[in-house]
Amino acid sequence: MSYKFIQMSDPQLGFCASRRKDVNGVDYEITNLKKAISIANEIKPDFVITTGDFTQDRLNSEHAEIVIDLYSTLNSPHYFAPGNADLTNSPQFEDIDRFRRRFGSDYQSFYFLDSQFIILNSCVLFDCTNVLGADVEQIKFLEEKLKEGFNNNCKEQMIFMHHPLFGQDPYEKDDHMVLPKNQRKIILNLLEKYNVTAVFTGHWHENNIVNYKNTELITTGPISLSLGEEPSGIRLIEVTDNKLEHRFIYL
Ligand SMILES: [Fe+2]
Repeated sequence: MSYKFIQMSDPQLGFCASRRKDVNGVDYEITNLKKAISIANEIKPDFVITTGDFTQDRLNSEHAEIVIDLYSTLNSPHYFAPGNADLTNSPQFEDIDRFRRRFGSDYQSFYFLDSQFIILNSCVLFDCTNVLGADVEQIKFLEEKLKEGFNNNCKEQMIFMHHPLFGQDPYEKDDHMVLPKNQRKIILNLLEKYNVTAVFTGHWHENNIVNYKNTELITTGPISLSLGEEPSGIRLIEVTDNKLEHRFIYL
């Protein structure tokens, strides 16, 4: 039994122009998102999950409409997780509502064959000052779903969210690149408890792959401007006989 899916991250319309003086507007990202969707339509994955940062300016509805229109040309079922550019790192309820209106639920889970997929809103885990209790709700959802998948004898359990848990060291200090240590510790404990297969994240605009106990932590480079050594791209994941393999495809 085998299946394949694609992780995309950070289409972020307007990011390139915010970093490069020679670039204006959102043409850079539109070109790259069209390429990403065209590659995905050739591969015909069972589904696609995008881990956040759809527009550089969350208040720009015109840019959000362009993203939604482009994703409507993607032939596979697709799911969205919110990023800090979509909600800020200290989201307000209105930010979450806006995301839900545009892209659907900000956290959800589903099954595909013997595998379980859990999509989280990591922004409320980063800082829930303005949405008190949303972090607790998110962790409760994660633990309940992991338990449910475990009890359903899932062969793989995978988590998708915008912020990476850590870069190299599970105890590294808090900064804007990773989830804060208090939330990180809770999630790392759950990964170990439920022997989670993999966590897929974005946010860094570059690839980074590390392990925590038995869990592979995969940070995937962007559709928008790459800040790493590799160019922009998307990640193809194939699960065959309960073995997970993945590779980053350049746009
Ligand atoms: Fe981000």
